[in-house]
Amino acid sequence: MSIAAGHGGARLEAVVNLCKRRGFVFPSAEIYGGIRSTYDYGPLGALMLRNVREAWWRAMVQERDDVVPIEAAILTNPKVWEASGHLATFTDPLVDCRSCKERWRADQIDGRCPNCGSTDLTEARPFNLMFKTFVGPVEDDSAVAYLRPETAQGMFVNFANVMTTMRLRPPFGIAQIGRSFRNEITPGNFVFRTREFEQMELEYFVPPAEAARYFDYWCQERLAWYERLGIPKDQLRLRRHAAEELSHYSAGTADIEFAFPWGWGELEGIANRTDYDLRAHAAHAGVRLEFYDQASGERYVPHVIEPAAGATRTMMAFLLAAYDEDEVGGERRTVLRLHPRLAPYQVAVLPLSRRAELTALARQVLAGLRSRFVCAYDDAQSIGRRYRRQDEIGTPLCVTVDFDSLEDGAATVRDRDTTEQVRLPLDALGDELARRVG
Ligand code: GAP
Repeated sequence: MSIAAGHGGARLEAVVNLCKRRGFVFPSAEIYGGIRSTYDYGPLGALMLRNVREAWWRAMVQERDDVVPIEAAILTNPKVWEASGHLATFTDPLVDCRSCKERWRADQIDGRCPNCGSTDLTEARPFNLMFKTFVGPVEDDSAVAYLRPETAQGMFVNFANVMTTMRLRPPFGIAQIGRSFRNEITPGNFVFRTREFEQMELEYFVPPAEAARYFDYWCQERLAWYERLGIPKDQLRLRRHAAEELSHYSAGTADIEFAFPWGWGELEGIANRTDYDLRAHAAHAGVRLEFYDQASGERYVPHVIEPAAGATRTMMAFLLAAYDEDEVGGERRTVLRLHPRLAPYQVAVLPLSRRAELTALARQVLAGLRSRFVCAYDDAQSIGRRYRRQDEIGTPLCVTVDFDSLEDGAATVRDRDTTEQVRLPLDALGDELARRVG
């Protein structure tokens, strides 16, 4: 069975290797030996991660009239984390192996150290996942601050500011994309679980009576988003949490899960957070956080439906789902069947040779396409090898400028998935490529 057809470790290994080899993801500070489970996004990774954010932003902000964005600070007043419950309860149960000194999450092992097999483990104790730091030059208790472990609280503490300045009334949402930090005890599985990662979160404020309806609405909306961007239906599922699994704030949670090579894993959590957060912040800050309609005299604390996704983790799922190997003209190839909107480059411009007249025309074609698409340009080695290189990084369309182009003002457009080639007039190229990219 090919790596592409299988779902095992071989597929994961192939994607991790591809990420390193082609500049998607590097171990962070690799020249210093890296730092455990921390990654830097290379040129293609940076392009793709931007596309993941962009696809989310488009669906959640740009194409809606009931959602507005914010960008909140990563370091904020520590009282936020007291009110949210993170200081008291954002913990994992930590155990030490007395034999080899490794540390584990008690809920992830079966009473036996996965490293050395010893059962001589300490009692589990709560370990807070927030990174602590100091604000200002004095490192005392009054200067303690935390790196945010989620972007969500930025929306709750700005609820009144946003609602008033934007003249909003529920149902409305506040969206944010940004870095979050958790001192995970056992990060791993490549970028699936890291200590620094990126979240894409929406807090959707609704009249209390409508919370259940909007919870179902967002579950369906979000599931459809992953499907639209190319994850096959059979590699996705919606899993509702059992009562004992629910977070302290939740009246109902469902995870959107992806079939990772090691099993089902969460891409996104959709939670009915009730009025927990607004009430908690109102009580701690001594302010009113509620909707008040002057005309009708109506007053209530909105309930919140929260679709909370991970950008970095989702990028990994898109890569795993897109990875494929097939045979073209009797030759094996690796191909990333990424949705055109997610691929690092949408178009590659390839002059058949480096002859000056072809280079000039190819550069002209490139200049014409660049304002509409993210383009690659490659004139090294045979055209076949260049197609393979673009297939491997998921570029959906290649435009080859050849000697006939100088005569007929046309170029060959090659499709990544079908490898079909069609001849198109240069002046129609932009519109036709846009149609295909979608
Ligand atoms: N505000 C709710 C919240 O943060 P979460 O389920 O803890 O919920 C949401 O996180 C998403 O963030 C997860 O579904 C996952 O995609 C991503 N995420 C969480 N922890 C992560 C980590 N350590 N590394 C990578 N992504 C992570």
